[in-house]
Amino acid sequence: MNPVKIGICGLGTVGSGTLTVLRDNAELIAARAHASLQVVHVGARRDNPACDVSGIRVSRDIFEVARDPEVEILVELIGGTTVARELVEMAILAGKHVVTANKALIAEFGNEIFALADEHGVEVRYEAAIAGGIPIVKALREGLAGNRIEWLAGIINGTGNFILTEMRDKGREFADVLAEAQALGYAEADPTFDVEGIDAAHKLVILASLAFGMPLQFDDVYTEGITELTTQDVGYALELGYIIKHLGIAKQNGSGVELRVHPTLIPDDLLLADVDGVKNAILVEGNAVGPTLYYGAGAGALPTASAVVADLVDLARDFGVGQSGRVPALAVARSSLRDLPIVPMSQVQTPWYLRMEVEDKPGVLSRVASIFSEQGISIEALIQKAPEQGQTRVSLIVLTNKAPQGSVDTAVALIEALDTINGKVTRIRVEPLDG
Ligand code: HSE
Repeated sequence: MNPVKIGICGLGTVGSGTLTVLRDNAELIAARAHASLQVVHVGARRDNPACDVSGIRVSRDIFEVARDPEVEILVELIGGTTVARELVEMAILAGKHVVTANKALIAEFGNEIFALADEHGVEVRYEAAIAGGIPIVKALREGLAGNRIEWLAGIINGTGNFILTEMRDKGREFADVLAEAQALGYAEADPTFDVEGIDAAHKLVILASLAFGMPLQFDDVYTEGITELTTQDVGYALELGYIIKHLGIAKQNGSGVELRVHPTLIPDDLLLADVDGVKNAILVEGNAVGPTLYYGAGAGALPTASAVVADLVDLARDFGVGQSGRVPALAVARSSLRDLPIVPMSQVQTPWYLRMEVEDKPGVLSRVASIFSEQGISIEALIQKAPEQGQTRVSLIVLTNKAPQGSVDTAVALIEALDTINGKVTRIRVEPLDG
């Protein structure tokens, strides 16, 4: 059994987890890969006391790993996009395969990186970049290869999901829960990536390309974070039979592809609504298989390492039969990628949850209702809360039927201009997720 020689760059959480999995499961990994996976070189700016690197060459300059002729597969776990891109491209030019957990790198520069890899006859694998240990890339590229993917919707940021779960279950405020998520090590180095939806957008854009066979288009994702959500809205949503989740949604419709990350009300009886804490899940609707759900740990040392090692095993298996490139990076051959138009948000249709603070006096409700009617928006449900003691204002919560965002924008602007309305209208999209 020939060993496969691996170089790992980055000895943080995922690097350390990868060494652990390769060591602890060495025997069964070798049996599955039909080769022993041997880490021969590690590149890290500093030691990590949690990592046992005895017997492994260690370089402070990570580029030494890309230059090492012994290394056949370079594992990029340093994060960021500038140095990481240089490193990955250097490895490709040196004829090495690459495994990465770097979602930003793939989402933003994947088109160029995959093209370079194709030119040089090597592969770039990235299962660990999306939803940690959940084998969603494998599912989309291989398990669902017979399907036309209609849409997918995912809870793909564990930090955001942890925050929303705590707000709902314990009535805690946003800032307080974020501080705990940071202390627990779930959040990105810059936690705005988690709470503003950028991390989820990175992952969504890769999922959409895999699902629909289109080039990566990170700049076209509509991204809305969870920083404005209040426990009040989380509570009202519950009363209406909905859970608020921060979803990444990719949908093919007649005019193109919807690509959006935003807080979303989903029916509380869906399995996806039960995905709590730092867990991730992706619901994928294929035209043959119907709905399928992929659930698991979306972050953490060992779950993410599980995905890194799965990619290493796949590559080693291909070495065994003397081939590479069996599965194209984005599921279809590069020549078959299609530039699908992205649907402008003004045309995206969903039901809406709208909350406004109104003066509790005759005629207000009918004026609001007539604005909706003038914009062609149909009301599905409406709740008016009793005023607090001594208050003249009440909360009015409106659930609409499906309406284009453009019409809702107009209606909201007209409502906000009424002198019987106080402040802004809170708006959150609803997704029935029933196809
Ligand atoms: N910060 C990310 C999350 C880590 O919370 O999901 C995994 O990508």
